[in-house]
Amino acid sequence: MAEPILEVSGLYKHYPLTQGVLFKKQVGAVKAVDGVDFTLRRGETLGIVGESGCGKSTVAKMLVNLERPTAGSIKYKGEDITKLSGRALKAVRRNIQMVFQDPYTSLNPRMTVGDIIGEPYDIHPEVAPKGDRRRKVRDLLDVVGLNPEYINRYPHQFSGGQRQRIGIARGLALRPEVIVADEPVSALDVSVQAQVINLMDRLQNEFKLSYVFIAHDLSIVRHISDRVGVMYLGRIVEIGKDAEIYDHPTHPYTQALLSAVPVPDPEAREHRERIILAGDVPSPTNVPSGCRFRTRCWKAQERCVLEAPPLTVPSHFAQASGPEAHASACHFAEAVPISRSAPGQVVPPEAVP
Ligand SMILES: Nc1ncnc2c1ncn2[C@@H]1O[C@H](COP(=O)(O)OP(=O)(O)OP(=O)(O)O)[C@@H](O)[C@H]1O
Ligand SMILES: [Mg+2]
Repeated sequence: MAEPILEVSGLYKHYPLTQGVLFKKQVGAVKAVDGVDFTLRRGETLGIVGESGCGKSTVAKMLVNLERPTAGSIKYKGEDITKLSGRALKAVRRNIQMVFQDPYTSLNPRMTVGDIIGEPYDIHPEVAPKGDRRRKVRDLLDVVGLNPEYINRYPHQFSGGQRQRIGIARGLALRPEVIVADEPVSALDVSVQAQVINLMDRLQNEFKLSYVFIAHDLSIVRHISDRVGVMYLGRIVEIGKDAEIYDHPTHPYTQALLSAVPVPDPEAREHRERIILAGDVPSPTNVPSGCRFRTRCWKAQERCVLEAPPLTVPSHFAQASGPEAHASACHFAEAVPISRSAPGQVVPPEAVP
């Protein structure tokens, strides 16, 4: 098994919620990320999925040091990068690069593609001496499947998929080891999504990259992920190898998400029930006590109100533990085929204690 390249433990990001204009008083906190743990191994892709607002981008920003965690550690090859500053931090940042969601807004419209892709070299001139930059940028255009002759064009002259290729080329410019891709295909047409995912897959092999690949939807990360983590309200509620997650989800939330993924096989489609969750995602300023998913869960009982379930391998599963283990944060975790996991009823929020 490859060695860990990123080890995230006890990661929190709480944004203070203040009131008053002149004398700001803290009245609470937005618990954007509220206790996240995972390991990324070299050459692996970890998919992270979850609904809007569950904290995916905040995790991504902390991994690339755009945000400082409120608590917790992020180890890159064993060294906690949240404690670094100055040159040591700069050196690490070079190795962990981000690809952003929206290729329409993340590329400066006034810069040529050559300047956009070569911009990271301004901060790290040691990677590409001035005289060598254009050649390096042309190579990068070629690598992501764009004509190197386009080097002097502007972002608006490209399609959405091509723009995301430019974003990926920029992410590769410093030859990082880890790429954190925050919903890299969500803004693209469905027909283009697969092309960009295939490109990222190819680049992973070519450059021996490790990916954290974030998406809204389990179907998007399916083909690229080795393991998948499902987030809900600032936490990972289930994590495991992709086949485990897709074929034997154990957390009710994952089961609900999967029941909404389109299936091509008409017979399978007929036999499965769609789980419709009650209510909305609670606000991250007001996280439910105990299990944070209980207000929408059809299995919720009193224990779920009182006791937060840790992300562990359920004791009633005969399964190995360790970083690859299939872990679930549910007191009543149960591996049931998705077609049978639906309770066939929607629990009104007021029925849950
Ligand atoms: N700078 C900030 N100040 C206060 N709250 C923030 C800040 N950034 C994010 N949040 C809040 O933290 C929560 C998590 O946001 P985040 O962007 O990480 O979610 P996400 O899972 O990426 O959502 P999406 O799928 O919509 O991109 C949200 O409630 C968001 O409003
Ligand atoms: Mg986001």
